[in-house]
Amino acid sequence: MEKIIVFEELDSVEQLVEDEKELLSKAIEVSKNAHSPYSDFKVGSSVRLKNKDIVSGTNFENASYGLTICAERTALGAVVSNGDKDQVSKIAVFGTGREFDTDSPVTPCGACRQAIKEVEDLSGDPIVLIMSGQKGKILRVVGIDNLLPFGFGPKDLDM
Ligand code: THU
Repeated sequence: MEKIIVFEELDSVEQLVEDEKELLSKAIEVSKNAHSPYSDFKVGSSVRLKNKDIVSGTNFENASYGLTICAERTALGAVVSNGDKDQVSKIAVFGTGREFDTDSPVTPCGACRQAIKEVEDLSGDPIVLIMSGQKGKILRVVGIDNLLPFGFGPKDLDM
């Protein structure tokens, strides 16, 4: 069987449906709170739950560089802590430099893709991911398989 990666490249935020526009604008807003004095790169991530609530997070860096937590995992950690680990429906990611504008979509790192795979398996439905930089195209995919092909998740452990 052939598997194909599917993605949409949008020219403008106007091409998103209203609830995705709102989700991305929350990610942009929260990115301003990033604790990122080492990279000077500010990332915000907003998670839409099935009940329509939004939970957000930013990257959280540390003087011991390797301890950095990305915005996506900060937001997902809050979702899990609130008892909603199986309720994730959409995730928006926005990032930009303090000294420069990103001109292409900021996409989750490998570790975050794996974390998104976890909550997608728990949810049972494909998660919509909206990824944006300060300028340029917006990337939209439906299902983490499009960013993490042949991913390993809870279902592989029979959960
Ligand atoms: N970062 C995120 O928070 N999410 C991403 O999708 C890409 C990278 C953070 C980690 C680090 O604080 C900074 O951006 C530079 O890598």
